[in-house]
Amino acid sequence: MSTAWEGDEPRSTGWTRREWAKLALAAGAASSVLAMGGTVAGQLLPPPAKFQGELRQEIYYTKWPRPTWWDDRQGRPILATDFQEWQGASGVWRGLFVNERWVPGTGLAVLVIRVKYDAPEFQVSTDLVPPRGFSFYHDDPGQRIRIVVFADRCTHLCCPPGWHVITDTVPDRAYRIPPPTYSVYGQDPIFCICHGSQYDPLLLTTNVHPRNGVPYLGATHVHGPTQRALPIVPVRVDGEVLVGGMPDPRWYDYC
Ligand code: FES
Repeated sequence: MSTAWEGDEPRSTGWTRREWAKLALAAGAASSVLAMGGTVAGQLLPPPAKFQGELRQEIYYTKWPRPTWWDDRQGRPILATDFQEWQGASGVWRGLFVNERWVPGTGLAVLVIRVKYDAPEFQVSTDLVPPRGFSFYHDDPGQRIRIVVFADRCTHLCCPPGWHVITDTVPDRAYRIPPPTYSVYGQDPIFCICHGSQYDPLLLTTNVHPRNGVPYLGATHVHGPTQRALPIVPVRVDGEVLVGGMPDPRWYDYC
């Protein structure tokens, strides 16, 4: 079965929640092992019997099941300068590349979002530190660009949340806390259509993984049914290309 990251043909009709949920199950099963690759191999998983190609730390555009502004960029590296304010895209981090081509279904699906650079509401509540050479978000003061990258697996049941790609369903506004992304800037938070969870990319907070007890940094959940934040991916920029840095692979051990 093809997934959201394998180049489905765009569909003109709306997807039901059941379809999104099925998509998430298939994608999670396909990517859960290869996503963490060598980094996890010695900690959580046995090493692959045979491993060819390379796991790339750069983040590449992937395709969303519906038409999007980045459709013609699929397979290209994502640049920090690609986005207008409040624009975002889906991508893959730590994807397996063979002969310079990404192997669909490998890597960790991510959401890359450019938030407002000087938003006073932006909060990072954590004692955690990013991996050496990386930051929890990318700031370019000269161009006033701020980019935040998130693992694109809902912490409820692993559907792929979207950023401004669901156009036929309005997110429920009965928020558990006011999300500044919406209440101040009128932008929908990160939205998982499967069961309605939402996360605010301006509010980064520390939560604890329910299964392994590991604290992680993520976008605060502002609407259930999820009970926890959406993990971020630490980043740096290498020649404008966004590169992810592994904090602790257990942050992403959900699906
Ligand atoms: S999987 Fe996202 S809300 Fe349920």
